[in-house]
Order: sequence, then structure tokens, then C-alpha cells
Amino acid sequence: MLKIKDLTKTFGRYHALSGLNMEVPEGSLYGFVGPNGAGKTTTIKILCGLLMPDSGSVEICGMDIAERPREIRGLIGYVPDYFGVYENLKVSEYMEFFASCYGLYGLKARRRCTALLEQTGLEEKTEFYVDGLSRGMKQRLCLARAMIHDPQILIMDEPTSGMDPRSRFDFKEIIRELNEQGKTILISSHLLQELSEICTDLGIIEQGRMALSGNMEEILNRVDTSRPLSITVNGRVEQALAILRSHPCVQTISVKDKEMMVGFMGDKQDEAQLLQQLVDAEVPVCGYSRVRGDLETLFMQITEKDEKEVLIHEG
Ligand SMILES: Nc1ncnc2c1ncn2[C@@H]1O[C@H](COP(=O)(O)OP(=O)(O)OP(=O)(O)O)[C@@H](O)[C@H]1O
Ligand SMILES: [Mg+2]
Repeated sequence: MLKIKDLTKTFGRYHALSGLNMEVPEGSLYGFVGPNGAGKTTTIKILCGLLMPDSGSVEICGMDIAERPREIRGLIGYVPDYFGVYENLKVSEYMEFFASCYGLYGLKARRRCTALLEQTGLEEKTEFYVDGLSRGMKQRLCLARAMIHDPQILIMDEPTSGMDPRSRFDFKEIIRELNEQGKTILISSHLLQELSEICTDLGIIEQGRMALSGNMEEILNRVDTSRPLSITVNGRVEQALAILRSHPCVQTISVKDKEMMVGFMGDKQDEAQLLQQLVDAEVPVCGYSRVRGDLETLFMQITEKDEKEVLIHEG
């Protein structure tokens, strides 16, 4: 769907992007994560045709961005990190203005705008002035605007920054829904944990390079092998413990009432086999899951590793 190869961009002598490679699969909800100054906004601006790269290539839906910028722009909806100022403009006027930019007028435009404002939960704000909206509402309005031309790909630059937990949650639900409806979504943030909850794919950028990328499940599986297995039983605790103690993959067990946290060194197959063993022994298992990996920890591991490599080079 979206392929970036060896992308570089310098600002003066500063290398904002130094050989970035990235692939966003069709239908994915791709989390683009990295610390401040890593190059997220620069990459996004290049994808949206607002900035020219120094070298490298960007392909979207099989088209090269340098060769067919207009067509590509029609495929993308962009939600920038900065909203801008719109004095004396009401929400409905704002939306209709952008609709007109895409050649939509009159009833057709009004229908489309109403539908989008409903989808983003702003149907009651149509007569409000844009500048009077809260930050969360402005971001939702930005999203509604970005969807006017029904783009296949939505690209959002830190859309939830500055939002309170409630607005964040609502925004994430809207994004998830759009993704389920088939939109490919690229969303940048430095909140790793937040993205891990909704994303199907992830790319971690650091100093203008991709430090780690791939399917979320694969990435989480790489997170430290110490991800425990959480098992909750509704009785027969002793029996469950006896089975766990004799299992070759079990390394540690901590029990709190009916919940056991098990240090487990096995894969999915081993997990399934252990569950079967518990069920066969008629242990009433009512909860069984691998605790999700902590991306924050993974990110630290990656950057730590890089530091070590640098030291080896110096030595
Ligand atoms: N127009 C510009 N002129 C000079 N330097 C720039 C410009 N735009 C970006 N940079 C530099 O390029 C680097 C990458 O910036 P970018 O905005 O892409 O980072 P980011 O990952 O979006 O960071 P943040 O999380 O803070 O938004 C930064 O060091 C920044 O100072
Ligand atoms: Mg940025």
C-alpha cells in the first residue's frame, strides 16, 4: 500500500531522515512511533507531498509520489499536528469550504459534511465557531475534514496529543472504526502504550531510521521472554499448581487468591497444551492469557542495543 525506500532529508547540515525504510500494509492501522525529533513529521509531510525528500522513493498504491503527486494526493487524507486558526468560521462553514475544495457543492456537500460530523461525534457542534472548540473537538473536526474526499489512506500526526483521557479514548474508537471499515491508517505518536492498544502494525523510528517495524503481534512476541501467563481458576487451585509445577516451560509461579502469574518460556503451542492439561484435570479455568508485552520496555531494549553497538565500533 505504502512503501518508503532509503528516504533522506536534510535541513541545512542536519539529517532529519537518513535512509528510512518503511512499509505500511493495505488495511493496516500502522503506529508510527519515535521520540521527539526522530523524523515522524518530516516523513509524514513527504508522504503528503508537502515536503520534497533529498533522495529515496515513496510509492503509494503502486504509484511513485514524484511521478504522480496529484493522483496520490487524492488517495490521502491528512490530519496535521497543528490545527491552525480559523476566525469567524463555523464548523458547518469550515466543512463546506473544504468540500468545495474537492468539488462538492450544495446538497451533496451538505450531506457528506453531515455524515462526517456524525461519524466524528460533532453533529451537535455544527453552529459553533471553530476557534471555540476544545482541542479534542478540533482534532475530530480535522479528521472529518481529512475524510471529505473519501481517501483510502488516512495519515495523522499525533492526533491525540493534548487530549484528556476521555477524548483520547473516543478518538481511538473512531480510528478503530474507520480501520474496520477498510481505511488504511498511519498514525504517529510518542505514546507507545496507547498505540499498542489499537495498532495492527508498528514502526519505531529513531534518528531518521527505522529501528524496528512489523506486525504488532510479532513485535510483542519479541518483547522480553518474561511475559507471564495469567491464569485464573474458579477452584481446584492446588491441582492447578501441581500441574504447573511439573510443566517443563513453567519457571516461576506467583499466586494471589485464584489468579496465578506464571513465568512461561513456551510458545503458543505450549500454551494451548498446558490449557488442555488443566481442562483435562477438570480445573475450572475462567481466565487464561499471555500478559501483553510492554512496548516501552522493548523500545528501551532497542535503544540500549544501539548504544552497545556504537561502543563496539568505537573500540
Ligand atoms: N523546517 C525545518 N528546518 C530545520 N530543521 C527541521 C525542520 N523541520 C524539522 N527539522 C528537524 O528535523 C528533525 C526531525 O523533526 P520532526 O519534526 O520530523 O520530528 P518528529 O519526530 O515529528 O518530532 P516530534 O515528536 O517532536 O513531533 C528535528 O531535529 C527538527 O529539528
Ligand atoms: Mg512531529
